[in-house]
Amino acid sequence: MLELTTRHFRYFARLLTKRTLLYTEMVTTGAILHNKPEKFLEYNKEEHPVALQLGGNSPKDLAECAKIGEDFGYDEINLNCGCPSERVQSGSFGVCLMREANLVAECVAAMQNAVKIPVSVKTRIGIDRDDSWDFFLNFVETVAETGCKHWIIHARKAMLKGLSPKENRAVPPLNYETVFKLKQIHPDFKISLNGGIRDLNQAKNILQKTDSVMIGSAAYRTPWILANADCEIFGENAEIKDKSEILEKYIPYAETQLKKGVPPTIITKHLMGLFHGMPDAKKHRVALISRIKL
Ligand SMILES: Cc1cc2nc3c(=O)[nH]c(=O)nc-3n(C[C@H](O)[C@H](O)[C@H](O)COP(=O)(O)O)c2cc1C
Repeated sequence: MLELTTRHFRYFARLLTKRTLLYTEMVTTGAILHNKPEKFLEYNKEEHPVALQLGGNSPKDLAECAKIGEDFGYDEINLNCGCPSERVQSGSFGVCLMREANLVAECVAAMQNAVKIPVSVKTRIGIDRDDSWDFFLNFVETVAETGCKHWIIHARKAMLKGLSPKENRAVPPLNYETVFKLKQIHPDFKISLNGGIRDLNQAKNILQKTDSVMIGSAAYRTPWILANADCEIFGENAEIKDKSEILEKYIPYAETQLKKGVPPTIITKHLMGLFHGMPDAKKHRVALISRIKL
């Protein structure tokens, strides 16, 4: 998630859960190809397994960026076909690509040819009036002809005119049934359902009908839910975690980043969700920041 799931948040998330797959923010092909790629692609080795999400619409550029991502050591490359922001619309990528199934297939084929790691697609269930089951299925099946079977589906459509990106994450209704139906029709696809998942109980229910779930906002706002994921979702005999233990582990990381010149707020802001719902949340935050040697 742009400006949320940065490398600093991902390092923190990895202290809470070892098994979940983490995703980068969307990085556009332009950003990678017209700058020093490390500016956008550097991450901490502790983040593995971590997937790089790319935004773009040129098969050649996406293939090149997928290869660069693979060389950086990412575990998966994901193509964004779900973002409705104006900037992305003006570049004709993100969710606009749902109307360009053949082009997406070309992009995915080019990416797959360029790398050995898995390539996945994140999409929605429709766009504007193109919100029928047939439209969605045609998009997925056209792209899947490339051999790409791993789908992350934000279970609501996008509306390009009149809704902000934030509204596009809340106003169009969620429709999990469409995602469940896709899994029924294509049991060989690896389907991850995304949208509106608040906690692990809800995730476990959805997992009866899909292969995985992607948790976005709730993982950021209330990251403590991740602390039980290894045990409750992956069945591991994970040790019991304690919030202060997690913070103790984050402090040396934060200090290293500070020495590299990263501003303190950039490093600490992602931890704030840990205090969500606690009575003295503000006091805890101040205490945390003062613990980090500035
Ligand atoms: C601030 C913000 C930034 C986001 N940036 C991205 C992004 O870069 N790529 C992407 O695929 N989805 C992005 N999303 C959408 C989420 O990945 C997710 O699809 C959406 O929020 C619905 O899932 P949720 O209800 O679990 O949050 C973003 C969401 C938020 C709140």
